[in-house]
Amino acid sequence: MSEALITLADVAFSYPGHPVLSAVNFQLHPGERVALLGENGAGKTTLLQLMVGLHKPTRGRIHAFGRERRSEQDFREVRGKAGLLFQDADDQLFCPTVLEDVIFGPRNLGRSETEAKAIAEQVLASLGLSRYADRITHKLSGGEKRMISLATVLAMQPQVLLMDEPTNGLDEKAEQRLLAHLESLPQAMLFVSHDRKLVERLATRAVLIQDGTLIEGVMHSHPHVHTHSHLHIHAAGQDAGHHHDGSVPEHQHTHGEG
Ligand SMILES: Nc1ncnc2c1ncn2[C@@H]1O[C@H](COP(=O)(O)OP(=O)(O)OP(=O)(O)O)[C@@H](O)[C@H]1O
Ligand SMILES: [Mg+2]
Repeated sequence: MSEALITLADVAFSYPGHPVLSAVNFQLHPGERVALLGENGAGKTTLLQLMVGLHKPTRGRIHAFGRERRSEQDFREVRGKAGLLFQDADDQLFCPTVLEDVIFGPRNLGRSETEAKAIAEQVLASLGLSRYADRITHKLSGGEKRMISLATVLAMQPQVLLMDEPTNGLDEKAEQRLLAHLESLPQAMLFVSHDRKLVERLATRAVLIQDGTLIEGVMHSHPHVHTHSHLHIHAAGQDAGHHHDGSVPEHQHTHGEG
C-alpha cells in the first residue's frame, strides 16, 4: 500500500485529570474512507483534534504528509492539507456572511481575493448552496450551518477530510445529497458518525475507540432478514389507512439486502 497520509503511533492523550486515549495506532492511506466509531465520550473528537494539532499528545508520535509533526508551525501546515469539519458548526463559522466564511480558508492559504472568491463560489455551487452566499451566517438553521461548514472545509481543497459527524442535523434529502457528494470526492476521509446508513454506504473501513484504544472494525455485508417498526406521521384527521390504537403502527415485513 502507498505511504500513509497520516499516521498515529502509540499516541496517548489526557485532559487534565482525565485520560482519554492510550496507545492509539492508526494510519490513513490515500483513497480510504474510514469511519471512526465509538460511544459518546469515547474520544473521537479528541482524536481528530490531535491529528491537526489542536491538542498535543502526552505520548507517541504523529506523522502527516511525509514527516513527523511536533511544533505549532508543523501543525499549521497540516491544517492546510487536512480539513477538519468541527462537530459544532458554531466553532467553524465566524464571518458575517456565508460567502466571506467560505472565502476565508483559501485566502488564509495564500490565494488572491479573486481566486478565493472563484473557489468559494464554485464550492457553494457544487453543493447546491449558491443561494446562501449573501446570507448572514449566524442566522442560518443548524442544518444549513452544517452544509456551509462543509463548504468552508472543501474550499481549502484539502488532501484529507476529517469530518466530525458530517450528517448530524441534516434532513434526509440533505443527507442523501451530502452522501452523494462525499462519494464523488477523491480525498481520503476519516469521519465520525453515529449514522449506520452513512457508515455502511461511505466507509471503506471502520475503526472503533473503546476504553481509550483503537480497534480495527470488521465490515461485511450479507443478506439478512429483519423486522422493524415504521413511524408514520401525518396530519390529524387525514386517513392514512392505519389503526390508531395509541401504539406506534408496526409493519412487519421482510426484505433481503446485499
Ligand atoms: N476540554 C476538555 N476538558 C476535559 N475533558 C474533556 C474536554 N473535552 C472533552 N473532554 C472529555 O474527554 C472525553 C472524550 O471527549 P470527546 O469529545 O473526544 O468524545 P466523543 O467520542 O467525540 O463523544 P461524542 O460522541 O459525544 O461527540 C469525554 O469524557 C469528555 O467529557
Ligand atoms: Mg465528538
